[in-house]
Amino acid sequence: MRIPVIAGNWKMHKTGPEGAAMVTALLPLVRDAREVEIVICPPFTALEAVGRALAGSAVRMGAQDVHWQAEGAYTGEVSAGMLVAVGCSHVIIGHSERRQYFGETDELVNRKVKAALSAGLVPILCVGETLEQREAGQTEEICRTQVEGGLKGLAPEQVKGVIIAYEPVWAIGTGRTASPQDAQQVIRSIRQVIREIFGEAAEAVRIQYGGSVKPENAAELMAQPDIDGALVGGASLQAETFAAIINYR
Ligand code: PGA
Repeated sequence: MRIPVIAGNWKMHKTGPEGAAMVTALLPLVRDAREVEIVICPPFTALEAVGRALAGSAVRMGAQDVHWQAEGAYTGEVSAGMLVAVGCSHVIIGHSERRQYFGETDELVNRKVKAALSAGLVPILCVGETLEQREAGQTEEICRTQVEGGLKGLAPEQVKGVIIAYEPVWAIGTGRTASPQDAQQVIRSIRQVIREIFGEAAEAVRIQYGGSVKPENAAELMAQPDIDGALVGGASLQAETFAAIINYR
């Protein structure tokens, strides 16, 4: 069975001390959470402090981006090995904000996924359509292209270790959530694409929903058969709110 993963994407919020204070408040609230994996993704500069505050707990830590090379002259960038060294187990790759504001393409995303896997990190590969694309009836086609591109060249065994986050761009930070039925339908189509390429491995891949997930809509989204967790932005910044999503059952 696929264990759901609830990940908090803090985006460009919180310093080290602020992040450490947040997770210190969060840990007692999620101590009894069962059969759910929890991942916190702070900005690079808060990773060390948050990692220290999480030490000894079951909550894992991820970064929000990674470079595709192990090292080199890439000013401003951070490698997968560096993320492992600071205590990360996961990394978000190809978030729509990176695609939109930093020009990330499927090819680049694919290189980052491979770099993460070779360093032993679990990639959280983000895919999703814009409002225009949805209105043009292109949702499943866009997701197919992004999933195929992002996972290109991987072996089925590697694909099992990847988490996909389906995040419709129009639902991110807008308060508009995809209906659980809508999200289920797209996520099922994504699993079908993975099955076509990688066979049985598709059954093991966790596929999250992301986009305005809140305590009020988490349970209904998570009850869908193909939805295996959530990637949470705004609602992951506060301990009580994020805990209420984690304790959705
Ligand atoms: P949101 O962001 O929950 O604030 O909509 C989700 C995300 O971008 O990962």
